Amino acid sequence: MNKIKVNLDNRSYPIYIEPAIFKETAAILGQLDSGKEFFIITDSNVSPLYGDALLDSLRIAGLSAQSLVVPAGEHSKSLQVAEVLYTQLLAARATRQSTIIALGGGVIGDLAGFVAATLLRGVPFIQIPTTLLSQVDSSVGGKVGINHPLGKNLIGAFYQPQLVIIDPLVLKTLPLREIKAGLAEVIKYSFIANAGFFNQLSASITEIINFNDLNLVQDIISTCCQIKAEVVANDEREAGLRAILNFGHTIGHALETVTNYNYFLHGEAVTHGMRGALYLSFLHQNIDKDELTRACALIDNLEPPAIPPHITGEALVQAMSKDKKRSDKGQLWILLQKIGHYTMTRDVSANDIKKALDFVLTGQ
Ligand SMILES: NC(=O)c1ccc[n+]([C@@H]2O[C@H](COP(=O)([O-])OP(=O)(O)OC[C@H]3O[C@@H](n4cnc5c(N)ncnc54)[C@H](O)[C@@H]3O)[C@@H](O)[C@H]2O)c1
Ligand SMILES: [Zn+2]
Repeated sequence: MNKIKVNLDNRSYPIYIEPAIFKETAAILGQLDSGKEFFIITDSNVSPLYGDALLDSLRIAGLSAQSLVVPAGEHSKSLQVAEVLYTQLLAARATRQSTIIALGGGVIGDLAGFVAATLLRGVPFIQIPTTLLSQVDSSVGGKVGINHPLGKNLIGAFYQPQLVIIDPLVLKTLPLREIKAGLAEVIKYSFIANAGFFNQLSASITEIINFNDLNLVQDIISTCCQIKAEVVANDEREAGLRAILNFGHTIGHALETVTNYNYFLHGEAVTHGMRGALYLSFLHQNIDKDELTRACALIDNLEPPAIPPHITGEALVQAMSKDKKRSDKGQLWILLQKIGHYTMTRDVSANDIKKALDFVLTGQ
C-alpha cells in the first residue's frame, strides 16, 4: 500500500492511496483507537455509488454506522446545511468519541470537516475523497469550511483529519469534465514543485485523461499528495509557503467571480489562470519562450470552456483588486522561476498584468 505521512507533530496523519482500498475501509477503521461509532456524511450523487456500500461494510464489521446525505453541489457548503447536520448528529446522540467520515468531493470534505471541527468542540474526522480534485488537493491539509453569501470559504477552520483514504478506482464514475478540472491542480503541482513530474505528465497526459493505466493514476495522485503534505507540514496555517498552492488562482478566482461561479468549474478557471501566471513568468524573464510553449501545451490538453467573449481585462482587474482587499500588503503573485520552481513577488506592474490578461483572453 502506498502510504504518505503528513507531519504535523501530534496532528500528524497518514494518507493511504491504493486501488480498491475503499473495500478495506471497515478493516482500517476498526483498528482506530478514536471510537467505534461512525457518521458518514456524503452527497446525493455519491451515496448510491459508494455510500450505501460503505455503510453496509461498516455494519457487517460490527461497527456502529449511520449515513447523512446532503444534496450534491456547492450550495450545500452553507451554514444552513451545516445546521441540519448538527441537528441530525445531536439527535442521534453523537458524542466526542463519534467519528465523522467525509465521503465525497471537496464540497463534502469542506462541509463535513467544518461540522467535525465545531460539533462538541471537535470530533474525530476521516476523509475519503472521491473526486480527483479532492484526492489531490482538498482532502489533505486540514482547511475546512463553508461559504457565506458575501463570499466563498469565508467561514472555516484548520482542522486536520485522522486519516485520508484514497481509492483511485472511484474516479471511474467521475464525469470527464470533473477529471480534467482536477488535473488542473495536478499540473499546478508539477509547475511549482517538480520538473520531472511535469515531464511525466507531458508524456502521459492523454493516457491519464482516458484513465487507461490505474497504476499511473495512483502514482500521480501520490506525487501530488506528497507535494501538498510537504507544503502543509511547513506551513499548516498559510502564513507563507502554502501560498504557492495558489499558482494560477489569482486570475482563476477573478474568472470565477466575473462569471458568477456558475460557468467554470474551479479547475477550469485555474487552467486559464495558469496561462496568465505563466505569461507573467515569461514577461519577468524567468521562464523562456520554449518553456512557456511547453507549459501551455500541457495545459491545453484540458480544453477548458472558452472564456465568454463579454469578459474584459478591466473586469478581471477589478475582480482581482476586490479579492486583494482582504490583505493590506497588495497582491502576492506566485510565478515560476523555471518549470518545477516557484517564485513569489508583489512587484508586478499593471502593464504586465494587462499583457498577461490579454494572453489569457486572446491566446496571444
Ligand atoms: N479545503 C481545501 O483545501 C480545498 C481545496 C480546493 C478546493 N476546495 C473546495 O472543494 C470544492 C470543490 O470540490 P470538488 O471539485 O470535488 O466538487 P464536488 O464535491 O462538488 O464534486 C463534484 C461533483 O462530482 C460528484 N462526485 C463526487 N465523487 C464522485 C464519483 N466518484 N463519481 C461520480 N460523481 C462524483 C459530486 O456529487 C459533485 O456533483 C469547492 O467547494 C472548493 O472550495 C477545498
Ligand atoms: Zn484550486
